[in-house]
Amino acid sequence: MKKIIALIMTLVLCSAVLLSCGSAADKQSVDAIKKRGELVVYTNAEFAPFEYLADGKPVGVDMDIAKAIADEIGVELKIENVKFDTIISSVQSGKASLGAAGITVTDERKESVDFSISYTTSTQYVILPEDATYENITDLKGMKIGVQLGTTGDFIISDEVNGYKDDDGKDVKGLLQDTGATVTTYNNANLAAEALKSGKIQAVVIDKLPAELIVKNSTAKLKAVELVYEDGSNTAESYAICVAKGNKTLLEVVNKVVQKLLDEGKIDEYIVKHSTDALA
Ligand code: ARG
Repeated sequence: MKKIIALIMTLVLCSAVLLSCGSAADKQSVDAIKKRGELVVYTNAEFAPFEYLADGKPVGVDMDIAKAIADEIGVELKIENVKFDTIISSVQSGKASLGAAGITVTDERKESVDFSISYTTSTQYVILPEDATYENITDLKGMKIGVQLGTTGDFIISDEVNGYKDDDGKDVKGLLQDTGATVTTYNNANLAAEALKSGKIQAVVIDKLPAELIVKNSTAKLKAVELVYEDGSNTAESYAICVAKGNKTLLEVVNKVVQKLLDEGKIDEYIVKHSTDALA
């Protein structure tokens, strides 16, 4: 009996705490942001041209978009540079107002956060030594492959190396499974690229523009090629900004700003500018 009472008390307490804090969407509503005078964007500034450090400060395409959103609301922009694989949960819990980090829209992530309209597209790329032979993903058989933890590149390669379940829950053998191929996760693509240069791994899988910039900025002879399957198809992805689930007021502003930037050709301008600025 005592245990039951204790349990009920705990439940009452917990719900009181939850209620007093409000939902993540309430904490980060446009009104709440205006009251605090600050829009908090979480990013991972190791992904040029979308976000990278210049004089120690995060800049890039996503930061320009986030600044336009803060300006539209009329508040300061606060940027938090964190590990990529923590961004979605920080947006979900209401710690961050939004996540802007070249984040690919996936069905799984849609269960945790709401996404804006897409502002650009990408595909996965493979960074390899310049003299490596490569036609498609099966050429990665037996290789040690580096990825950034928690990214779509990580999910795609881990599935092909370890096997996965299809939509009906049936086991599917990965294209790289039982070939000796392994996945090594890094906290960012630059660390993975360093491991590639020193010969610890043989390939890095990461989004197109970051892959191309890493190759351009490398003194070692590397190449960036598209990750394609044997039938020539690729891994089409769309980038969007995420907000807490149900945060309608903020999502509306984000969509309005992104649409305007797209209409005015600004996103393309930002991409060109930062692809040049991020050159070593
Ligand atoms: N587009 C990929 C994903 O959503 C990689 C994004 C990595 N972004 C970053 N800022 N490090 O998983």
